[in-house]
Amino acid sequence: MTGLATDLLVRLDPQASEGLQQQIYNGVRKAILEGIVRPGARIPSSRALAADLGVSRTTTLLAFEQLMAEGYLATRHGSGTFVSHELPDGLPAGRDSRPTRTTKHPPLSRRIVALAEVPASARRVAGPPRPFRLGVPALDLFPVQIWSRLASSRTRSVTSVQLDYGPSMGLLALREAIVDYVCASRGTKCTVDQIHVVAGSQSGLSLMCNLLLDPGDRAWMEDPGYPGARSALVAAGARISPIPVDADGLDVEAGARRAGGARLAYVTPSHQFPLGMPMSLPRRLALLRWASAAGAWVVEDDYDSEFRHGERPLPCLHGLDVDGRVVYVGSFSKTLFPSLRIGFLIAPSDLHDRLREARPAGDVVPPMIEQAVLADFMGKGHFERHLRRMRVAYQERREALVAQAERLCSGVLRIRAPRTGLHVVGDLDGVRDSRVFEEAAARGVEVMPLSAFYSGGSKATNGLVLGFGGVRSDAVRGGMEALAAAIEAARRPSASIRRP
Ligand SMILES: Cc1ncc(COP(=O)(O)O)c(C=O)c1O
Repeated sequence: MTGLATDLLVRLDPQASEGLQQQIYNGVRKAILEGIVRPGARIPSSRALAADLGVSRTTTLLAFEQLMAEGYLATRHGSGTFVSHELPDGLPAGRDSRPTRTTKHPPLSRRIVALAEVPASARRVAGPPRPFRLGVPALDLFPVQIWSRLASSRTRSVTSVQLDYGPSMGLLALREAIVDYVCASRGTKCTVDQIHVVAGSQSGLSLMCNLLLDPGDRAWMEDPGYPGARSALVAAGARISPIPVDADGLDVEAGARRAGGARLAYVTPSHQFPLGMPMSLPRRLALLRWASAAGAWVVEDDYDSEFRHGERPLPCLHGLDVDGRVVYVGSFSKTLFPSLRIGFLIAPSDLHDRLREARPAGDVVPPMIEQAVLADFMGKGHFERHLRRMRVAYQERREALVAQAERLCSGVLRIRAPRTGLHVVGDLDGVRDSRVFEEAAARGVEVMPLSAFYSGGSKATNGLVLGFGGVRSDAVRGGMEALAAAIEAARRPSASIRRP
């Protein structure tokens, strides 16, 4: 071993904060990773290195032991110490460990490619909430103080048990509160054993699609429909059959004709997403009959049915199911706030054991403390009070939007009648929705082109989907003026997009 070779391997710095052993370890490892010593090369013995560096043999021995344990060095009996042929980081010696632009990954899965093609549920313009953002409740009216009080009380009194992994189905107190709520308000009956707390509807939809479907199974999807459900189906490897919807909701006969042997149907019966109408009773019964005959599951997404302006909320499809076909997916994203990431499933009772066993493999429950705070919020009556206040607020906000649309966009934008939920659909005349979307975004207004929610099962309708839940009535006028200007600009044949 020459002094030069030792120098290439390790340079000791007496001022360094690391100890000598660590410096020797770092130096040899770096020399290997940078290709200064190649796989298979012999390196000085710990004794020779100790002598060259002027350190104790124990120091070099301990560094070498660490490098051997990690797989950088290997010994051959009687022949000394060598750089391993298989490096632990999987890095060929001499290569930079950072990925480069030319790094070749293994091919991406077909699912990730297909998922990237599912359109987004809402295209947000960067920055704070603005008219007419889709899917946002009235966050300005949320009783933050009450929530904070409950949250700090829960955090202050947290027990060591609550710091552990919680029950995989969710906190019992929350599941009990959910049973009370759905039995009183959603027109169905269930027991606490059927309730699974999930991290929002999206997690519930993914869980059910993954557990109920095998890759390649057919699934009905409303067309137009909710992109979040489409993603969950794509991620589960389902083959999607887009089924048209009409004024009565999903066209069950068309579904049976196109894909009668499907294994699952995804529906939004209380408030079709995005068109807004409820599914009629005859259609609900036809869907359940088809599901029983075909041996299929029905996934009911009941995302914002609480808000039926001027009328009582419609009972859910789950309440009509006598055959154990329907899995109900509920969410607190619209009734409370989306970042809470809490929703729930009502599973048929005979699915309960399987679901409990299979769930930990692919899903986690939301944090226990948030679940406890939500249970308190519901148990102390705040949830019910908040819903009552929100029904009034949303009716006002909806009316403000409709009035301003009539005033400023009449003749081009006709708002449809269904009076449920937190968004409206308006038909556009004489101008393409995708152009209006672009012009509106350039003016800081968020609208969704209705055609973006279609996936080929039926002819796309030209229109706009406008959220009003998060838009204060006094902001509607300004938003609608900007939208009217956007529509006007989109109608001009060679209009260029004006950036704000
Ligand atoms: C049809 C539909 N389902 C569910 C949700 C709620 O999803 P999550 O509970 O994952 O926030 C939304 C939100 O916009 C929705 O539009």
